Amino acid sequence: MDISSLRKPGQPRCTTSLVICGGTGDLARRKLVPALCRLRAAQALPADLHVVITGRRPLTRQALLATLQEAVAGTADSLSRTGFEAMGDRFHYAVLDPADPAGCAAFAQALQDIEGRGAAPARLFYLAIPPEQVGAFLQALAPLLARDRGTPCPARLLVEKPFGSDLASASALNRRLQEVVSEDQILRIDHYLGKEAVQNILALRFANILFEPVWNRQFVDHVQISFAETIGVGKRAAYFDGAGILRDVVQNHLLQVLCLTAMEPPLSHHPECVRLEKKKVLAALRPIPADETAVQTCRARYTRRERTGEAAVAGYLQEPGIPPDSSTETYAALRVYLDTWRWSGVPFYLRAGKRLSASQTEIAVVFRQVPAHIFPAPGGGPVAPDVLVIRVQPNEGIHLTVMSKVPGMEFRLAPVDLDFSYQEAFAAYRPDAYERLLVDALHGETSLFLQHDEIEAAWSFIDPIREGWKREGPSRLGGYEAGTDGPTAADALLAADGRVWRPLCGTGRGPSCSPHP
Ligand code: BG6
Repeated sequence: MDISSLRKPGQPRCTTSLVICGGTGDLARRKLVPALCRLRAAQALPADLHVVITGRRPLTRQALLATLQEAVAGTADSLSRTGFEAMGDRFHYAVLDPADPAGCAAFAQALQDIEGRGAAPARLFYLAIPPEQVGAFLQALAPLLARDRGTPCPARLLVEKPFGSDLASASALNRRLQEVVSEDQILRIDHYLGKEAVQNILALRFANILFEPVWNRQFVDHVQISFAETIGVGKRAAYFDGAGILRDVVQNHLLQVLCLTAMEPPLSHHPECVRLEKKKVLAALRPIPADETAVQTCRARYTRRERTGEAAVAGYLQEPGIPPDSSTETYAALRVYLDTWRWSGVPFYLRAGKRLSASQTEIAVVFRQVPAHIFPAPGGGPVAPDVLVIRVQPNEGIHLTVMSKVPGMEFRLAPVDLDFSYQEAFAAYRPDAYERLLVDALHGETSLFLQHDEIEAAWSFIDPIREGWKREGPSRLGGYEAGTDGPTAADALLAADGRVWRPLCGTGRGPSCSPHP
């Protein structure tokens, strides 16, 4: 396997230590540690980088390595295992309990001991901790984050989502962050921006002449952005029940994908130019006022699945840790409009759900019908519209469905797929989102990270929807059987406009899984 794609030209100018606060938590074990190991296997990390994992309780080095090894083994990925062997002595553990001021000083000393003497350290602090702990960690880390004017490389802070739980808390968090560090020291992560297929949206749109002329209300009938997972709430009951899918993935991943799909061409690929255009999309989102959520949105949660011959699947309320009176949604669908010249009148349908029939994230741009039907269409009806699907996962790629003549004496038409698959087109290893973002963060590159005003604009759109749901009360929270395509109310949302969702089918291929809407 060619893993050279993991390497970025040039060495990071700055980072000598990556400190992961919450380094033994779920995110670090599932994503960060395996990503670091893969990067090490590809020699994409600076050879002298220290990775310092913090925790509240003392842990021996041996115990730390055992925990990390278990995490890496859990990925069933030989590259991470190779990297882990090479990485072993670069992992360190240090106690950091933000509630203990003396402990914070001891932590600073421990960090210095790990780094040894030499050039002034340049540190990247990764806050992989629950949002309610961010304030305490900021306070504890403040002396280490203070900008030393003499240092060319100030300490940087990488903050994981969720970034607040509404506009007020996100703004408060931003204010708190800015009291401690300046904006250019903060990296707010949305890992969807690190995904190859998401980055490719800009390449597809702006490095080709074909698509831009038809990327507007004149040619596009509607856009569907789907995020579907087969997994349920898993071990994240406490977090997820407090968040719900709207805040968990729509506010961030889906709105970011929407921005890249809908934005105007940026002046250049410079981070500021791209951000500016994304912000304009967020500003153009037509608000869904609280008294319109019943018609513009739907929400539901998965219910138990019991089928003969299949293992039963628990409903949301039966999941461990979910309170019996929970009214949290695990599925949300929205009809969204952008009030711009380009998109006026074109609905963007967004849906996100857990425990659905397939794991599938994609953007489908469904074009308008041809203006006149001159061919006898299959079944005698109108021809199917062209659809461009940007498949984020699985099988990252781009599919364009167009009509074709079926070989034979009659003039019959059928939809066919023009397919581009990353896997087939590029032999090189594709960095996963965290690999990409970690490398960027270590290099001090910020283009794939968010600024506070983008996050706040996204919350401004989400908050009234949540307010509407609150007013509606739990009685309007629908249900869908685990393992299905979602609630019937979501179908009704599109049916009201004479449209249907694309089927969920993981691969997007196969006769029972037509890629056509
Ligand atoms: C996270 C959400 O941000 O994204 C999770 O908190 C979700 O609920 C995950 O499962 C999905 O990420 P990915 O990369 O697996 O699509």
